[in-house]
Amino acid sequence: MTTYSIAVLPGDGIGKEVMPEALKVLKRVGQLCGIGFAFRHFDWSCETWLKTGRMMPDDGMAQLAQNDAILLGAVGYPGVPDHLSLWGMLLKIRREFDQYVNLRPVRLLPGIPCPLAGKKPGDVDFWIVRENVEGEYSQIGGRFAEGTPAEGVAQTAIFTRLGTDRILRYAFELARGLGRPHVTSATKSNGLFHSMPYWDERFAAIGRDYPDVRTDQYHIDILAARFVMSPERFDVVVGSNLFGDILSDLGPGMTGTIAVAPSANINPEKAYPSMFEPVHGSAPDIYGQAIANPIGQIWAAAMMLDHLGEAEAGGMILRALSAVLERADAPRTPDMGGSAKTADLGEAIAAALPAS
Ligand code: NAI
Ligand code: MG
Repeated sequence: MTTYSIAVLPGDGIGKEVMPEALKVLKRVGQLCGIGFAFRHFDWSCETWLKTGRMMPDDGMAQLAQNDAILLGAVGYPGVPDHLSLWGMLLKIRREFDQYVNLRPVRLLPGIPCPLAGKKPGDVDFWIVRENVEGEYSQIGGRFAEGTPAEGVAQTAIFTRLGTDRILRYAFELARGLGRPHVTSATKSNGLFHSMPYWDERFAAIGRDYPDVRTDQYHIDILAARFVMSPERFDVVVGSNLFGDILSDLGPGMTGTIAVAPSANINPEKAYPSMFEPVHGSAPDIYGQAIANPIGQIWAAAMMLDHLGEAEAGGMILRALSAVLERADAPRTPDMGGSAKTADLGEAIAAALPAS
């Protein structure tokens, strides 16, 4: 039996409430498929920051590096400035473990009302590939002439050839692997003078290695409109860190509730562990009531299994999720219009897995 060592970081707020449901489902699917999990629990969070001034201990990254994957809840809580908690843990892990792919499915699940009129499951079903470690989100820049009328800031975006090519290549490989050979690139080469013309140039160059994959590209503004007007046209959408960030919240927003959306931070070479998390944050407004929707966390666990090479087990989880949501009497948390508790929904999904 293969046993995977999984670093479990519930983090803050509802991260602590949804994580147990994902572990419940993983244990069950592990028994079914003959997969073992050694869960290593870490309580690093904003509470750690308040006590120690840091999000994780000095050797935190070394401790995480010993695992096959990281399952994360959410990071950030009132009382600790968001940029400190984010850069102190989440972004630190993404960057130091070179998780340069952020992969998010955009899929309308059964039983969840779609905010786009007339759309049903199947109409909204595509993947967003976001560059996750460079681009617009850089620490390069600065503030000058502070406190004078000439005061200003500069924030520099970084697009390296290595970084651009590898994310584009990942998107083409994904499209091919899914049997949906079509990649859409998010650009803005009419407004950004250097970075996006370069992005377009590399998209065309990498695309030449994939003659079987159809390509198109849109400026980010009209692309956002097309997401909403005709989501059927997309298969794999690739974007820079900033564009991908925005699109990958717009996408899940189009599917009814961000609470169900998962996100994978992947180091495709497997030189470091990859990290799997729900799209949502720590939801301080509902924390403590045990009503958070655990689906995003459970779906993230399914993506983790896919990454570990256990696609059969990952697929089982997704089928169980859909089967529960299709039922008229399914336990629904308040964000889905019901009154179920977090554990009711987690339990129902675990129970919907095959009996043996
Ligand atoms: P949020 O995602 O925590 O909450 C936004 C809204 O969605 C809230 O009304 C919340 O109740 C609801 N919601 C979120 N997840 C839900 C779930 N599973 N079930 C039911 N309802 C859910 O975003 P917000 O409020 O902007 O951020 C709160 C904190 O979380 C901040 O400190 C922020 O920095 C952090 N955050 C962390 C993220 C991460 O760890 N990747 C992502 C987004 C925010
Ligand atoms: Mg975001």
